[in-house]
Amino acid sequence: MCGIIGYVGDKEAAPILLESLKKLEYRGYDSFGFATLYEGNICVHKDVGRISEHKNLNLPGKIGISHSRWATHGGVTKENSHPHMDCKNQIVVVHNGIVENYQELKKELLGRGHKFRSQTDTEVIAHLIEEDLGSGFEAAVKKALSRIEGRYALVVMEKGSDELIAVRRGSPLIIGAGEHENFVASDIPAFLERTRNVMYLDDNEMAVLTRTGVRFCNIQTGEETKKRIIRIEWDAEQAKKGDYPHFMLKEIMEQKETIMRAINQDEREIQNIADEINKAFGTFFVGCGTAGKVCLAGEYIFSKVAKKHVNFVVGSEFPNYHHFLKPRTLMITISQSGETADVLEAVEVAKKEGVKVISLVNVMGSTLDRVSDHTFLINAGPEKAVASTKATTAQLALVTLLAYASAGKLEEGKRLLMETASAVNDMLNPRYEAHIKKLAEKLKDEPNIYIIGRSLNFPIALESAIKIQEVSRIHAEGFAGGELKHGPLALIHNGTPCIALIANDEVKKDVISNAMEAKARGAYIIGISPESNEIFDYWIKVPDAGNASPIVNIIPVQILAYHLGVLKGLDPDYCVNLAKSVTVK
Ligand code: M6R
Repeated sequence: MCGIIGYVGDKEAAPILLESLKKLEYRGYDSFGFATLYEGNICVHKDVGRISEHKNLNLPGKIGISHSRWATHGGVTKENSHPHMDCKNQIVVVHNGIVENYQELKKELLGRGHKFRSQTDTEVIAHLIEEDLGSGFEAAVKKALSRIEGRYALVVMEKGSDELIAVRRGSPLIIGAGEHENFVASDIPAFLERTRNVMYLDDNEMAVLTRTGVRFCNIQTGEETKKRIIRIEWDAEQAKKGDYPHFMLKEIMEQKETIMRAINQDEREIQNIADEINKAFGTFFVGCGTAGKVCLAGEYIFSKVAKKHVNFVVGSEFPNYHHFLKPRTLMITISQSGETADVLEAVEVAKKEGVKVISLVNVMGSTLDRVSDHTFLINAGPEKAVASTKATTAQLALVTLLAYASAGKLEEGKRLLMETASAVNDMLNPRYEAHIKKLAEKLKDEPNIYIIGRSLNFPIALESAIKIQEVSRIHAEGFAGGELKHGPLALIHNGTPCIALIANDEVKKDVISNAMEAKARGAYIIGISPESNEIFDYWIKVPDAGNASPIVNIIPVQILAYHLGVLKGLDPDYCVNLAKSVTVK
């Protein structure tokens, strides 16, 4: 959602904050802001636009905070960019999350004479802290937060103080412990080039950072807490674009290795969880957006491979299912970031009913990783582009492996996925990309693209639509092939692009028939399939991957979406109106 970075140390804060915030741009990219403390005064710089295009920051001081925003409350304006201050410019706050009761708090504060400069919910926090500053900085922050409802991560600085106060409730905040300098950020890449030693803040925990150390306490009980330092082993280079023009293309190409990494799991753990699924009193797969489509694919894969019924429920709707939860129910969440608020809320609901939670997550140390009873890390490495690609196929691979284990065929599943990983490696070559780019050139001005698939590839049709929508802003919709004739066929006319996802399986003939029905109405048929067919106007060959066909079928659509975005002059890494990690409900 939004990106936060705070620094206190013996170096000038501004250049460090500027560089670090650029590494968090994927979290929010409509506006940004900085505040430093110099000779007892707060200096602020805010602007609208992309932080990556910002060159210099002339703010003095060795302590500071900054923020890249993804607007929720209040439009994209300089005034609404963070940081926000109180009436007397003594307190400065950056915040990720939503103050759910901000309207009543703002009314109260206005009634007591406070003057507001923005339309944001965040500004109430600065004014609340201001009211209690007499009792000391730390106490005032605690008191203010006792009034705030909602999930958040925030960092506060006070005029004249050499401390940064960071508090987390539901949104990520990580401390980077350096030498004579300390950092607090929404994500590790922000400071990874400066320190590999991190400490994860827990919910309702406060960190007080100075140049020489960090102390922690629980804001509800006031008790001091001890933290373990975790050493990050992955490389800062992994979170960079390298020679690629965009993260999205780099991450698509990384699928040469990531599928293999995802299935490289402890086989006993895979088997244990598969056995638990077999014994469970109902298993719910829960995720949002693309991860939700992987969950839906899980429903089909388990049904086909393990003859087992598992249920997919989208994260935000899961609370409506609480009636069906029993202590022997199992919840399997899928999330790249591990910070999606709708999924975390679903986990809270499940835990209240005593349900065991297993998660498939990419980000180690994320909230979901820490609140789950068991986590499988998909090991895809940092995914920065807003559009998920390599995490998606890694999740699909792991779900497939679990389904095979549930059927008592773990080795067979592993073999299939290893062959698929190797086929993906062969597939991702420059000629293949050029062939898809040629198609993108033909489709770039189309207003609509439709995608059909059946069985395992129905969820992939839905996921294909998300990819095309978010990256190219072309209206795209996915359907179960059989549904075309129940309505969507009315949208097809001469030349309408229709992508048919076809695997060598028992529904192959049916999807071809559905594509024919569209072709008879003038549709331009793009077949994604191991074999060509006379009805295709354009054929994109994929390997014959059997039950792993969802993995190989989504990859050409990822490449298509990428090139459509580029050809339309869009930045494929920063989808308009979207954020990488959706930490609000
Ligand atoms: O981090 P998560 O996997 O939980 O994110 C869930 C969705 O927000 C995410 O998949 C979103 O749909 C992507 N932008 C799709 O590319």
